[in-house]
Amino acid sequence: MIQLPAPAAPLRARTCCSNAEATSRLARHLSHLLRGGDVLLLSGPLGSGKTHFARSLIQARQAAIGPDQVEDVPSPTFTLVQTYQVGELEIWHADLYRLCATDELCELGLDSAFGTALCLVEWPDRLVGQIPPNAAWLVFETGPPADADRRWISLFAPDDLPWLASAQSVMGAA
Ligand SMILES: Nc1ncnc2c1ncn2[C@@H]1O[C@H](COP(=O)(O)OP(=O)(O)OP(=O)(O)O)[C@@H](O)[C@H]1O
Ligand SMILES: [Mg+2]
Repeated sequence: MIQLPAPAAPLRARTCCSNAEATSRLARHLSHLLRGGDVLLLSGPLGSGKTHFARSLIQARQAAIGPDQVEDVPSPTFTLVQTYQVGELEIWHADLYRLCATDELCELGLDSAFGTALCLVEWPDRLVGQIPPNAAWLVFETGPPADADRRWISLFAPDDLPWLASAQSVMGAA
């Protein structure tokens, strides 16, 4: 049984996405709120939709620059990190599931990216003690087997998150 981390910030908003397109829609809404220096930690079991969400968010930012800017967004399962330059914004998409040691984390350079880039991090429990204070968490939960495409997505965030009110209006305040 994989141990999922408990977010270190209060529950702020929660929504139900009944299929993959609904999750993409949420990602598109949130994509316009995020800036360089924002850290979004994507937590939830295998196959719960973290990469699907990140891909939709990154492609929405690319599409906002121009339709010809939309590129493939592969899962960073094996590379651990994929980076994207989207106009002025640098986006880091990390999947730390296969991270073996803490010094590997230093080599990735994620800690310095946290200050400047928009960082989307799957399996953030691997960050052990290196989660920045401004980080927000999106926690993905799967629905019952009879409703396999349903996902509950919850936002945990600190008080002073600049995009909190906008996210709550999109997701519904908890
Ligand atoms: N409501 C939904 N939201 C997101 N994905 C959904 C939903 N319904 C079905 N899916 C499907 O579930 C799968 C989610 O896979 P994805 O790779 O995004 O999971 P993950 O959480 O990143 O897994 P891992 O921990 O292995 O990286 C995709 O095939 C996606 O199309
Ligand atoms: Mg993934």
